[in-house]
Amino acid sequence: MRHLIVANWKCNPVSSKEAQRLFDAVAEGIKNINNVETVICPPFLYLSDLKSGASSVKLGGQDCFWEDKGAFTGEISAKQLQNLGVEYVILGHSERRKYLDESIEAVNKKIKAALSTKLKVIFCIGSQTKELGEEMESQLEKGLQGLDKSDVADLIFVYEPVWAISTTKDKVTATPKETLAGSLFIRKILERLFDERTSQTARIIYGGSVDSQNIEGFVREGGVSGGLVGAASLDPDEFVRIVKKVALNVKS
Ligand code: 13P
Repeated sequence: MRHLIVANWKCNPVSSKEAQRLFDAVAEGIKNINNVETVICPPFLYLSDLKSGASSVKLGGQDCFWEDKGAFTGEISAKQLQNLGVEYVILGHSERRKYLDESIEAVNKKIKAALSTKLKVIFCIGSQTKELGEEMESQLEKGLQGLDKSDVADLIFVYEPVWAISTTKDKVTATPKETLAGSLFIRKILERLFDERTSQTARIIYGGSVDSQNIEGFVREGGVSGGLVGAASLDPDEFVRIVKKVALNVKS
């Protein structure tokens, strides 16, 4: 399974100049790495500029709207992202639930719109507590409602335990063992919703305080094939180290 490292810049940085500097430093740092797919998801307004520079770094949005166009003030559609040449979109991030009350029903509509415009969807699944149960199960059931097993090939699931995100109060870093349990839980639900083959071939990455010290453990023992990186993706040297650590662990 192809390994994937995704930078989620969230609402950073504050200028396009800084965004370009950060992007160029990453592109330069990973230019000789071809066994790890590397995606940067900047704020929407930088996508267009960053797209114009040729690079092996792919681009993703941090959200999208489900209608192609129309009277939806402030929204950016999946179609608009696709027309810009963006290839990925993060959907269902826990911060959108927390700060914007985004519902899983809205996420489901966004997933369908993104898939129909051929964007690859980075779908975040995770609970507030360490319990693996109803909360994640419901996110998967409702988020994937109406999708076919063939759609799952264009989805990348993120096991995103909210308690392990760097900005969560009293956060505790997940262990590879906990990541393995989370990824196996996601596979178990996928098997129930679709079938064994779909569950076994689904791409799952981990998100929550990933850095260059812990990524190896997650990839080797955590049952995941990459990471969704928040805070550490804002330091280009650290982000490049993360990609390189994964590259070293991948048989090419
Ligand atoms: P941090 O890497 O800052 O914990 O953010 C990760 C995240 O939001 C996972 O989705």
